[in-house]
Amino acid sequence: MTRYEQSAAKLQEAETYLAGGVASSLRASMKPTPLYVQHAYGARLRDVDQNEYIDYMLAYGPLILGHAHPAFNERMNQALQRGSTYGMQHEGEIELARRLTEVLPCADQVAFSGSGTEAVMLALRLARAYTGKSKIVRFSGHYHGWSDAIFTSFPSPDFIASGGLGDDNTDIAPGTGGQSRNSLQDILLIPWNDPIALEETLTKHHDEIAAVITEPVMCNSGCIAPRTGYMERMRELTARFGIVLIWDEVITGFRLGLGGAHGRFGITPDLVTIGKALGGGIPLSAVAGKQDIMRLIASGKVMHLGTLNGNGLSTAAGIAVIEELAKGNGQAFVHMENTASLLAKEMRSLFKRQGIPAVINQLGPVFHLMFIDRPEVADFDTFNQRDTGLYARFAEEMLKEGILVRPNGLWYVSTAHGEDEVKETLVAVEKVMKRIGQ
Ligand SMILES: Cc1ncc(COP(=O)(O)O)c(C=O)c1O
Repeated sequence: MTRYEQSAAKLQEAETYLAGGVASSLRASMKPTPLYVQHAYGARLRDVDQNEYIDYMLAYGPLILGHAHPAFNERMNQALQRGSTYGMQHEGEIELARRLTEVLPCADQVAFSGSGTEAVMLALRLARAYTGKSKIVRFSGHYHGWSDAIFTSFPSPDFIASGGLGDDNTDIAPGTGGQSRNSLQDILLIPWNDPIALEETLTKHHDEIAAVITEPVMCNSGCIAPRTGYMERMRELTARFGIVLIWDEVITGFRLGLGGAHGRFGITPDLVTIGKALGGGIPLSAVAGKQDIMRLIASGKVMHLGTLNGNGLSTAAGIAVIEELAKGNGQAFVHMENTASLLAKEMRSLFKRQGIPAVINQLGPVFHLMFIDRPEVADFDTFNQRDTGLYARFAEEMLKEGILVRPNGLWYVSTAHGEDEVKETLVAVEKVMKRIGQ
């Protein structure tokens, strides 16, 4: 019996009924086979073949409290007893909206939806309605969900190295079959962390640009932090040109602190999108921002729709996550950051000792591990030079040692991870690297 026999058999069964065999295309990439989970608790997960793992994938980010957190689950049970959704108003949505306006510095008001993709769609719509302009500046290597309006091929081989924009922008490749090229005609794709490219683009096209949308840390491609002064410059330029600045905090929101990256960096965008950790594993996302933009929803100029928006289960989840993370004056963030820093530091020295060129970019409880012979990875071009084949082997071998990591190199830490998990992980890394080196 192989280690993954049951998972492999279940995938085969799923492929008969479930298109693609998995529920989200990315999940198909797990090697040697997508795993089927039996149960998960805290930082650990067991698959149907009875293999146990420390989980650093954390469902691609939302499980900031780990799996099946007792207090969180208790809140979910209580919420379900009251009925999951009403298609009407209830106090939970006022409560969560109020709390978000308290913890997110940019938020005068918020609007709820179910996924990060939807939150981004709403933010773009608000920006266009507010400015009366249509173009959106986005950055190579960033990901903002899979809607036709913004999904470009990813990671972006469509990157235009010169930073030049074709005059008609037809050079931006759609991210998927079935996506009309026309859907991207309003997108201007430029390199990130490059103040000159930004200034040139905004100066040239500001009459047409409704919004600049950015991940505040390039979590989807290398967990790259903004260069000193870059985000400040972006804020300055967008304000000068009457362009809405959207920070896509679907990953960083609630990970870099309750106030997200904008709270941490002390910069106020006009709108932010948050998702993932906000719902702790229950579908929930939000757009938060300035009163004069958000009020377009109240005036009816912008339609914001969704059958399940603000349902009782999701708002109870959001409130529970905030309460757990706020306990002990934010101790949870200190704990997560310490755990991630320790793990990143020890892995760096382990790789160094073994003579394996690697870079780990870490910010708070999220980091990207890349095998690359460079002193640092600070831009998308360098990120694209990492050894993806070696990392894929590493991820697969780590599974055998009981450590679950995303095949792309991004690791998440939750409040449930601690020193025990770090120790076990380091033992596994050492074994795996010796094996790979042989
Ligand atoms: C920065 C960012 N924005 C938006 C999204 C889309 O969120 P969702 O997968 O919930 O639609 C993601 C998902 O990974 C993301 O990382």
